[in-house]
Amino acid sequence: MQALQSIPNHIVCLADHEAEARRVLDDNAWAYFAGGAADELTLQANVQAWQRTQLLPRVLNALQGGHTQVQLLGRTLAHPVLLAPVAYQRMAHPDGELATALAAAAQGAGLVLSTQASTPLEHVAQAYQCMAGDPASDTPGPLWFQLYLQPERDVTLHLLSRAEAAGYQAIVLTVDAPVHGARDRERRAGFRLPPGIRAVNLPMHLPANPPATDTLPDSTSAFESVLQHAPTWADVRWLVQATRLPVLLKGILHPDDARQALDIGAAGVIVSNHGGRTLDTTLPTAHALPGVAQAVGTQMAVLADGGIRRGTDVFKALVLGAHAVLVGKPYIYGLAHAGAVGVAHTIRLLRDEFEIALALCGCATPAHIRPEHLFK
Ligand SMILES: Cc1cc2nc3c(=O)[nH]c(=O)nc-3n(C[C@H](O)[C@H](O)[C@H](O)COP(=O)(O)O)c2cc1C
Repeated sequence: MQALQSIPNHIVCLADHEAEARRVLDDNAWAYFAGGAADELTLQANVQAWQRTQLLPRVLNALQGGHTQVQLLGRTLAHPVLLAPVAYQRMAHPDGELATALAAAAQGAGLVLSTQASTPLEHVAQAYQCMAGDPASDTPGPLWFQLYLQPERDVTLHLLSRAEAAGYQAIVLTVDAPVHGARDRERRAGFRLPPGIRAVNLPMHLPANPPATDTLPDSTSAFESVLQHAPTWADVRWLVQATRLPVLLKGILHPDDARQALDIGAAGVIVSNHGGRTLDTTLPTAHALPGVAQAVGTQMAVLADGGIRRGTDVFKALVLGAHAVLVGKPYIYGLAHAGAVGVAHTIRLLRDEFEIALALCGCATPAHIRPEHLFK
């Protein structure tokens, strides 16, 4: 597949990228990238919850000196959109995570690399840092590593030391997927990783993590052995001590879990239901965010993801207390049909739409966003 040099004029929003991706991805890859758990109600509810949240703009405010910058964990970001960890990106496009890294850095977007990346984490960091220029500078956005705790601590420690050495600036521990969701769409499509695509940063002998339901042995005792390795708060406490990097927990919906994360020294939480890919019928993230933000938002970083498809959604997330947001599927759709250019275009669209939303709501900068900008 050729990477596009430029984006056709008819692609003007994220939904247009999705339609192009559907054209180029086969049914196997489409089921993996576009699907969710079970009836996919959470997958849809995430999108709908942002859509149904109504803006209440203010007019005639001075907008001079406007910008989209936000502060996150002591850094200034050019804008509040980060790319969420998404596994196996070489299945979407041969350039995979490298294309994503180049595009993110070029567009000043933070990037969270998945444990299940199909490209070595050192190569991704190098691509990001090369394009971004000085890694110590304030912009562009941060480069973080997403961690699935491995059954063997040595394997986790090795991943951590590689991520630290490669220049990743935080660890994002995913806590909402101790087992794979019941992915009906994937099972109907008979989903299999294509030959040559695998989680290259993990040792060869390890199974998919989290274990896939369709590869789980039938017996209760075998399921029990998988659950034995399910991470607990004690493991998070261990992790916070085991790395010199700040740790964020991804997959928090309950305010009490956010408080517990704060108590044991996490630097932030990501309000997320894994894009509706793990447990179906959970609360959409737009509805979970305010409770978490109220509980811990002044004391730690609060981010949110799930269903963000418009700059107005980014704006709404900031009104509800997020300091920044992440997107998953949208940039994979850009990657699938147009490589790095498609990812860059997706980020640019979101950033531009966010900037427009700011101005039309009467905010010169994200710091001017107030609860009153949403209708209650
Ligand atoms: C195909 C796919 C693979 C994903 N892989 C991971 C992963 O390896 N680790 C992780 O923490 N989250 C993973 N996620 C979840 C995303 O990080 C993110 O929470 C979610 O995609 C946000 O919802 P959105 O896709 O509606 O933007 C994945 C999501 C998708 C769509």
